[in-house]
Amino acid sequence: MADLQSPKDRITLRNGYGIPCLGFGTWKMPDGEVGIDAVHQALHDGYRHIDTAAAYDNEGTVGKALASGGISREDLFITTKVWNTDRGYDATLKAFEESRAKLHLDYVDLYLIHWPAAQGAEAEWQRTNQETWRALETLYLDGLVRAIGVSNFKPHHLEPLMDAADILPMVDQIELHPGCNQEVTREFCNRHDIVVEAWSPLGSGRVLENQLLIDIAASYGCTVAQLCLRWCLQRRAIPLPKSTDPARIAENARIFWFDITDEDLQRIDELDPLGQSGLDPDTIDF
Ligand code: A2P
Repeated sequence: MADLQSPKDRITLRNGYGIPCLGFGTWKMPDGEVGIDAVHQALHDGYRHIDTAAAYDNEGTVGKALASGGISREDLFITTKVWNTDRGYDATLKAFEESRAKLHLDYVDLYLIHWPAAQGAEAEWQRTNQETWRALETLYLDGLVRAIGVSNFKPHHLEPLMDAADILPMVDQIELHPGCNQEVTREFCNRHDIVVEAWSPLGSGRVLENQLLIDIAASYGCTVAQLCLRWCLQRRAIPLPKSTDPARIAENARIFWFDITDEDLQRIDELDPLGQSGLDPDTIDF
C-alpha cells in the first residue's frame, strides 16, 4: 500500500483491471440535488470510484452527477449491485439493464451480488448464488461489466460459488471498520486473490467516539475518520466512506500523508466489537 499516493491510484484486480484505492460510498445518500452535489464534491476532491447499488435508490442521481461531472469515462470506476429480489440468471440480467440505464453508462466497472442467498436448504441457496453468478459471468463476457464480485459473502458462501464458477470473483465488499475486523473473511480473500472493499468504514459514525481511536489519531495528528480509513488501506481493503458534507468528503480523501505503525495497526485490530451494523448475511431477513 506504500505506493498509493492518491484516491485515483489503482489496485490491480486478478483480471488486470485497475480499481481506485478509495471509493465514495452512497448508501443513504439522498436522491436529487443533495446527492448530485455530494458526487460532484467527491469528484472535485479526487475520488474516481463511486459505489452505488440498485437498493440505494440513487443510481439515477449518480448517473446525472457523472454525466455533468466533467470527468472522462475511462477515469471513472462505477460499481453497482444486484438486489436480493432479483437473484437468479434471468432476473439478474434484467436488473443489470435497469441499473445501467439509470446510470446512463455503456458499461459498469464492477457488478456485485449484494448479499448471498443463505437461508433455507443449503443446496437451494448455493444453487441460487451460482445462478446469479452465471449471469454476472455472462455480463462480463459480453463486455458490459469490467469486473465482477460479491458483497457480504463469508468463506462458506464463497466456496460453493467458486467451485461452480468459470470466472472467479474479483472483489468481496464487506462491513469492515475498527471494531469489526473480519479477520477470517479477509484472510480467505487475500489467499484467493479477491480484493476486499470496506462498507461502513467509519462504522457509520459509531466508532468515532472510541477513546483508543481518539488517542491513536491524536498521535498522528489525523482525525479518527482518517485513522479508520487508513487502517482499512493498510489492511489491504478499499474503504468506501459516505458523506454528504463537503468538508468531510475532503477530509476522508486525505489519507495518504501518514502511515500507521504495525504496532498501532495491531492495537486497532484488537479492539473489542464496536459500532457493528448487526447485519449478518446468515440471518438477515431481507
Ligand atoms: P454525513 O453524511 O453527514 O457526513 P460510513 O461510511 O461508515 O457508513 O459512515 C457514514 C456516516 O459517517 C454518515 O453518517 C456521515 O455523515 C458520517 N461521516 C462521514 N465522514 C465523516 C467524518 N470525516 N467525520 C465524522 N463523520 C463522518
